[in-house]
Amino acid sequence: MSFPEQRPRRLRRSPAMRRMVAETRLHPADLILPVFVREGLTEPVPISSMPGVVQHTEASLLTAAEEARDLGLAGIMLFGIPTTRDAQGSAGLDPQGILNRSIRAVKDRVGEDLVVMSDLCLDEFTDHGHCGLVDEAGEVDNDATLEVYAEMGVAQAEAGADVVAPSGMMDGQVAVIRQALDEAGHQHVPILAYAAKYASGFYGPFREAVDSQLKGDRKQYQMDAPNRTEALREVELDLAEGADMVMVKPASAYLDILSDTAAISDVPVSAYQVSGEYAMIEAAAANGWINRRTVVTESLIAIRRAGATNVLTYYAAEVAGWLREELAGSRGSASASGAQTPPSAPAHPPIEPRRPTASTRPADQPRTDAGFPPVS
Ligand code: PBG
Repeated sequence: MSFPEQRPRRLRRSPAMRRMVAETRLHPADLILPVFVREGLTEPVPISSMPGVVQHTEASLLTAAEEARDLGLAGIMLFGIPTTRDAQGSAGLDPQGILNRSIRAVKDRVGEDLVVMSDLCLDEFTDHGHCGLVDEAGEVDNDATLEVYAEMGVAQAEAGADVVAPSGMMDGQVAVIRQALDEAGHQHVPILAYAAKYASGFYGPFREAVDSQLKGDRKQYQMDAPNRTEALREVELDLAEGADMVMVKPASAYLDILSDTAAISDVPVSAYQVSGEYAMIEAAAANGWINRRTVVTESLIAIRRAGATNVLTYYAAEVAGWLREELAGSRGSASASGAQTPPSAPAHPPIEPRRPTASTRPADQPRTDAGFPPVS
C-alpha cells in the first residue's frame, strides 16, 4: 500500500498527535550541567564567549547545585580553576584544592539527589595547559600522566565524587584509574570515560571559561576529526578497561560517532554539547537569526535521537525549567506545539548570571518520581 492510502502527514496534524508519536523526548533526568568554579572569586564572573554561563564562586556554585537538584537534573559536572598552576598540575591532586574542596561542598549540599561528577584531567591545573605531564621533548607523556590520573581519581573519590570523568584521552587511563580506585576502597565509584573525544575547535569558549594556559593544541592525544572507525576502537578499549559509561564529544558535529557508539555500547552513552555549540546558538539567537528556544530544544533532541542516554549541556537547568513549564500546562506555547516562530522573535534578554528560578522543594517533601515537580 502506498499513496493515497498511506499519508504520514496524518500523524502530524496537531500538537497532541505529534506529542503522542514522538520517538524521542527530553526529561530533566537526561541532562547534566557542567559548571565552573574558580578559586578566589568574590563574585561570579560572566564568561563573555558563553553568554549566561559564569565562573562560580564557591558560594554561587552551591546555589547552582541546589537549583540543579530542584530542577531534577541527572547530575552536575565540576570543573575547577585554581589560583596557582605548576607543571605537574599539583592543585588538582591537593585534597584542599579548588576542585576537590568543591566536590566535597557540593556533595554535602545536594549529594543525595544529584549525581556529583568531576572532570579528571590536568589541563585546568597545569601552567602549560596540557592534559598531562610534558616531557623534555615537549610531548605529553602518556604513561607518566597515568600515575597522576590514578592519584587524582582517588583524591576525587575521597572528596565524595559520585562519578569520576577522565577527559584527557591518555591511552590506558580508564584501567589505571579503575585499579587505583579499587585499591583505595572505592570499588563503587563509576568511571564516565570520555571515550571518543575529538580535538575540536568547538572547545574554543571553554578556554576562556577555565582561563586555559594552552599555547598549542591537543592533536597528539585527542582524536582527529576525519576518523570514524577509530572512535569505535577507543570506545571498545575503554569498555574493556572497565568504563561504566562512555562519552562522545563534541555532540552536534559528531552525531554519526554518537550513533555508532550507541550501537555497540552495552553501557550508558553520554554526549557533551560543548562550549562552542552553546556559543554558536547564543550568537545566532542574539542576532535574531534563529529562535533560541526552538533551536536549543531541537539540538538536544537530535543528540538524544542519535543515541545519547544523557547529555552534558550548559542549557541543562534552563531546559529543565522549560520542561517543567510544559508539564505544568503551558502547552500551546510555540515550543510545545512545534510551531515555527519567525526568526525575528526577540532574542533572549540581556545575559546575566542565571538566577535560581526553581521553586525550592521543601526539605521534608520527597522529590516526585524522577525529579519532575508535581503538576498542579
Ligand atoms: C578537558 C576538557 C575540555 C572540555 C571539557 N573537558 C577542553 C579540551 O579538551 O580542550 C571542553 C568542554 C567544552 O568545550 O564545553 N579538561
